[in-house]
Amino acid sequence: MNLRRIRYRLRKSLAQRGVIATARLLLHKGLRPGSRTIDRAKEYVSVHPFDRQFGVETSGLLFAEDLPSGSHKDLFNAGYFGVAPSAFRQILHRLQLDFEKYTFVDLGSGKGRALLIASEYPFRAIVGVELSPKLHAIAVANIANYRGSAQRCQDIRSIEADATEYSFPDGPLVVYLWNPFEAPVFTSVLANLEATLARNPREVYIVYIQPDLDPLLEASRFWRKLWRDEFQMSEEDYAAHAFPPRAELCSVYRNVLGSQ
Ligand SMILES: C[S@@+](CC[C@H](N)C(=O)[O-])C[C@H]1O[C@@H](n2cnc3c(N)ncnc32)[C@H](O)[C@@H]1O
Repeated sequence: MNLRRIRYRLRKSLAQRGVIATARLLLHKGLRPGSRTIDRAKEYVSVHPFDRQFGVETSGLLFAEDLPSGSHKDLFNAGYFGVAPSAFRQILHRLQLDFEKYTFVDLGSGKGRALLIASEYPFRAIVGVELSPKLHAIAVANIANYRGSAQRCQDIRSIEADATEYSFPDGPLVVYLWNPFEAPVFTSVLANLEATLARNPREVYIVYIQPDLDPLLEASRFWRKLWRDEFQMSEEDYAAHAFPPRAELCSVYRNVLGSQ
C-alpha cells in the first residue's frame, strides 16, 4: 500500500471506529484494505472494447483514495468500475418499462458508461450524479464524444454532486446504483429519495447492481422487492471485468405507492 492509501485507510478507520478501536486494529491486524473491491480484483483487459467502439474512455478500476472530492463522503465511496454492458442491457430489457415515461438517474455515474448505454433506450431524460470532479469531467467529455448510432435519448447529462444532496427531477424515475457507496451514505441517499416521494409521490424503480446493502431496502416499508437475479456477461465483458464473478447480480425494487 502506498502512503496515500495508508492515510486514507487511517482516516476512514478513525471516522468509522474511533481512536481506540483503530489503535487496537493497528496493533492486531494492521490497516488491511477494507474494500471488497480490492479483495476481489483479477487479471483483466485494461481498456474495454466499448471505449474503442464508441470513441469514449470509461475503463479502469479506481479506488476511493484515487477519487478525492474534498467531501467527507469520500470515506464511504466504494470506488469506480464501469458496468458490464451486456449484463446492463439485459437488466434494462428485463424491466419491461414504457421508457418514455421515466427519467433514468444513475447515482454514482462515474465516467458515464451506464448513462451512454441507457441512451439506447427512449428514456425521457438521463442524468448521472457523480461525486468525483475528475470522473464527472470525463463523463462530460464522453457524452460529447459518444458515437453510438442506436441512441434513442439525446437528453443526457452528468452532474457533479453528492448523491445524498441531489434534488430528484419530477416524474417517474428509474434510480440506478452499481454498488457506489457504503451504508452511511446509502442510508442518507434513501432518506433523501423517500422524503422526495413523500412530497411528490410517483412511481420509482430502484435498479441495484452488486446489491451488498439489500437488507437496508428490504427493511424499508417504502420499497417492495420485485426480483433479484444474475445476468451473465459476454466473453468480451468478462475479459475486461476486474472481478471473478461472470455475472452481475441485480435487485429491483418499486416504491409502495399510496403508503407515502
Ligand atoms: C462502481 S462506480 C459505478 C459507475 C457507473 N454507475 C456504471 O454503472 O458504470 C460508483 C461511482 O459512485 C461514485 N460515488 C461514490 N460516492 C458517491 C456519492 N456520495 N455521490 C455521488 N457519487 C458517488 C464513485 O465516485 C464512482 O464513480
